[in-house]
Amino acid sequence: MNILVIYAHPSEKSFNAVIKNALETAAINAGHDVHVRDLYQLNFNPVLSLAELRGAVPDDVVTEQDFIRQADMLVFVYPLWWAGMPAIMHGYMDRIFSYGFAYKANSDGTTLGLFNDKRVVLVNTIGCSADEYRENGMFKALETIGNRGIFNFCGTEVERFFHFAGIPGYTSEEERDIMVTELTNYFTTLN
Ligand SMILES: Cc1cc2nc3c(=O)[nH]c(=O)nc-3n(C[C@H](O)[C@H](O)[C@H](O)COP(=O)(O)O)c2cc1C
Repeated sequence: MNILVIYAHPSEKSFNAVIKNALETAAINAGHDVHVRDLYQLNFNPVLSLAELRGAVPDDVVTEQDFIRQADMLVFVYPLWWAGMPAIMHGYMDRIFSYGFAYKANSDGTTLGLFNDKRVVLVNTIGCSADEYRENGMFKALETIGNRGIFNFCGTEVERFFHFAGIPGYTSEEERDIMVTELTNYFTTLN
């Protein structure tokens, strides 16, 4: 399978970096083709311009859309920042999931998602504890936004959410190792 990892974290010493490296290695060892788009490393411009809103498609957008075109699976890896994704990741979606590429309008005014051949996995790290986010409904809210708000609109479904909560304060190193193993097992046994 061709797996595209879209990654947003500024620090190579973060838990996100550990996760991204671990899943990349696991997927490659399982025989998949893996491409990582590290948005900070790429110095990705997250600001959707008026020209793009009017239909211009700059070269950096063409490049990222080509990676998506070739991918069977999209894996998004990022920390939860202010109950959402880091601005650079949000801007990636603003600019790359454009009209005519990710979705289009039907003649009756409804929309048609164009990612129906893409599998999607979301991997988030979260500062709050898992107990807190389970009780206050935040896990459910994040899944609603991911599916109803973004990927259903693009014609697909998030097949697996990994919410790694309590990073780093509420978890021990052993608990974080278990999270990494859960993730690598998923990519090792992917079919
Ligand atoms: C700008 C910013 C906003 C954050 N917002 C949230 C939040 O809304 N909810 C939460 O649980 N944690 C929040 N956090 C904590 C991060 O989710 C946490 O530090 C991160 O997931 C840990 O992973 P890392 O070591 O890879 O950075 C925030 C952190 C930053 C820097």
